[in-house]
Amino acid sequence: MVEGRPVVVSESNMPEARELSIGRAVIFRSADGSPFNRPRPGVTISRVPEAVFYPRFVEPRLAEALADSPAVLIHGPRQCGKTTLAGVSHASSNYPYVSFDDDVPRGAAAADPAGFVADLPERVVLDEVQRAPAIFAAMKLAIDRRRAPGRFLLTGSSQVLLVPALADSLAGRLETLRLHPLAQSELERRPPDFLDALFGDGFAFERRERLGKQLAERIVAGGYPAALARPPGRRRAKWYHDYLDALVQRDVRGLARIGALEALPRLLALAAAQTARLFNVSDLAAPFQLSRPTIRDYVALLERVFLLERLPPWHTNRLSRLVKTPKLHVADTGLAAALLGADTATLAADRPLLGQLLETFVFQELRRQASWHEAPTAFFHFRDKDGVEVDLVIERGVGMIAGIEVKAGATVKASDFRGLRKLAGAAGARFAGGVILYDGETSASFGDRLHAVPISRLWAGP
Ligand SMILES: Nc1ncnc2c1ncn2[C@@H]1O[C@H](COP(=O)(O)OP(=O)(O)O)[C@@H](O)[C@H]1O
Ligand SMILES: [Mg+2]
Repeated sequence: MVEGRPVVVSESNMPEARELSIGRAVIFRSADGSPFNRPRPGVTISRVPEAVFYPRFVEPRLAEALADSPAVLIHGPRQCGKTTLAGVSHASSNYPYVSFDDDVPRGAAAADPAGFVADLPERVVLDEVQRAPAIFAAMKLAIDRRRAPGRFLLTGSSQVLLVPALADSLAGRLETLRLHPLAQSELERRPPDFLDALFGDGFAFERRERLGKQLAERIVAGGYPAALARPPGRRRAKWYHDYLDALVQRDVRGLARIGALEALPRLLALAAAQTARLFNVSDLAAPFQLSRPTIRDYVALLERVFLLERLPPWHTNRLSRLVKTPKLHVADTGLAAALLGADTATLAADRPLLGQLLETFVFQELRRQASWHEAPTAFFHFRDKDGVEVDLVIERGVGMIAGIEVKAGATVKASDFRGLRKLAGAAGARFAGGVILYDGETSASFGDRLHAVPISRLWAGP
């Protein structure tokens, strides 16, 4: 506890780089002993030099939301960049800042939620709100008393809104934005147009270079900015391991009373080995002395902290014999590769694993891109009992449907389109297009709304 003045937690010593300062305030106790929850603006506690600062393409959505919604929640996994986004976005960079990772405001909010909220400044960033669930009801009252847009910018590292009491208290008052680790298009600093082309005019004939080893490098690197700041290899993998340990200790522990916290990293590693496969509890439970319901609960916990997700099956009553099991996907391939001890050489030698991680990589890239788009987009997978499948089915807006198949190889044959053709038949007039993403050189049409497209088209533009 520091008396009487803000603490500068870290200050960059790179004066030559033009810096984007993340103006935020630090909690402190004033000398007269007044409340702990008074944020003070204008103290820079973290700076990211512009040279290594990547744009966040969800920012326009954040600005829009703050302009018309009393509360906005940015949620996503720990370390994906939520606090930084809140600090640099022009819409919120002048907001004072309170973090519930700090014991003092967390304690104050728990002891007297109404008083805590009443003492807050007009606009404020409340960071890591999942750690102070008591303030939701108080925020609702504060908003109902004075409904102005952009009052509360919340961040959360777990799916707080799964708690019905919290979701209900802010229903109609809160807009939620999902932040993911960095997308490839953000790393390239280039707004993507892949989904627009997929749902629009399709893909023109063109040639580009194969990615080859670079593809494996991108998969293994993943999208966490702090991991990317480290050199590839052992140091980066260590970051991912430490990340997971810290997250389990701090966030998962707070979410549920679970007996075997140490099982979670191992369970996630096992899930990483199953990524892009059908979700199968028995396979996940096998190595543990834990019951299947317990494993199910643990998977749900890992989903709540955004480390795992289940991709639901696409449904249509035009087709029978559909597989109704969701697919499992790890939330970031960098984390998955680190947990599997896989590097680019491993992926070169293990084609099945490369195929799985690549499918997860493409899924994550597309859902990151979709999260920036105005049109609501939903993702599914498609498989029937004859083994006909499409890796990703994407539904956009008023029910237009597209399909994506992912192939690690450098060639595509007409027969590879079997799944996409079946999807096109079932979707009928709603079918916008089908693409096989592959590591080849040519973008080419394979008939009605079907294309083979090099994977780099996802982020490299036309
Ligand atoms: N857009 C970005 N470009 C470069 N580095 C970033 C960016 N956003 C975040 N970082 C870095 O990533 C790390 C985690 O960011 P942070 O905002 O604290 O994540 P979160 O609040 O989601 O846990 C920090 O080291 C931060 O400097
Ligand atoms: Mg944060």
